[in-house]
Amino acid sequence: MRAVTVILLCLALCAFVDAAKKKKVEKVEAVDELESLIDDIDESKKERDVSDKAPKPLETNPCENFVCGWGKECVIDKKNRPKCECISKCPTDEDPLDQVCGSNNQTFTSLCELYRQRCVCKHKGKECADVQNAKIHLEYLGGCKKLDECTDELMAQFPERMSDWLFQVMKELKKRRELSGKDWEELVSEAESDDEKKHVYPVIWKFCDLDIKPHDKSVSHHELIPITAPVIPMESCIKPFLEGCDANKDGSISIKEWGKCLGLKEGEIQERC
Ligand SMILES: *[C@@H]1O[C@H](CO)[C@@H](O)[C@H](O)[C@H]1NC(C)=O
Repeated sequence: MRAVTVILLCLALCAFVDAAKKKKVEKVEAVDELESLIDDIDESKKERDVSDKAPKPLETNPCENFVCGWGKECVIDKKNRPKCECISKCPTDEDPLDQVCGSNNQTFTSLCELYRQRCVCKHKGKECADVQNAKIHLEYLGGCKKLDECTDELMAQFPERMSDWLFQVMKELKKRRELSGKDWEELVSEAESDDEKKHVYPVIWKFCDLDIKPHDKSVSHHELIPITAPVIPMESCIKPFLEGCDANKDGSISIKEWGKCLGLKEGEIQERC
């Protein structure tokens, strides 16, 4: 569901439809899954749980159904128990479309390579190119490049552009019946015939959509990656804009900060998730 949203966001915002579209779509889905996976897996807990249990019968592969975070793979230790280690080798098909730009403005040949590097550096492995890489994350899809400047004019237009675009996305999802929850479908219908609501509901909806891992009524930097990664190369303002939304600079965006940032009035900012 979220992957679809991201794709639509990208298509609607970037008017970016070319021969590479299919490939892009797959890639965006991969990113989406990836970022969710990273959040989902508490590896230390998982590994502990497994070692507490009695060893499984030999005929089953202990790595089957044993999930490791991105950049890691399951290996079987001497006692036939699964454990997660940094991936030893990422697939190499050298497709330029697989390139990603890391938060250090360094191009990696694939997401796998980026997260492998992070894993290796976290564990102080020999292949770590720079200790700083232990904290690296995905900045955007595609190789690093010089981004267009986010001018004051573009920045000023951005909130309205973003809420228009979110409304288009919502309508499209409703048409496909992929809008999560019946309530939102009704709210879109309401918004379609009411210009005020048209700018309000999509903003609240997107907040709820982003605030899921964890669902804690605030959107962290991490939760923004699925929305920013496909868009940054074409919309240089999205990152500074979203950074600016964290008005009190506490590292996450509350519904109040989000609403205000996207131009809602005090009374319009209502929690619905
Ligand atoms: C990031 O790297 C690209 C390509 O190497 C370069 O053109 C660009 O100026 C760099 N951006 C920053 C902010 O350093």
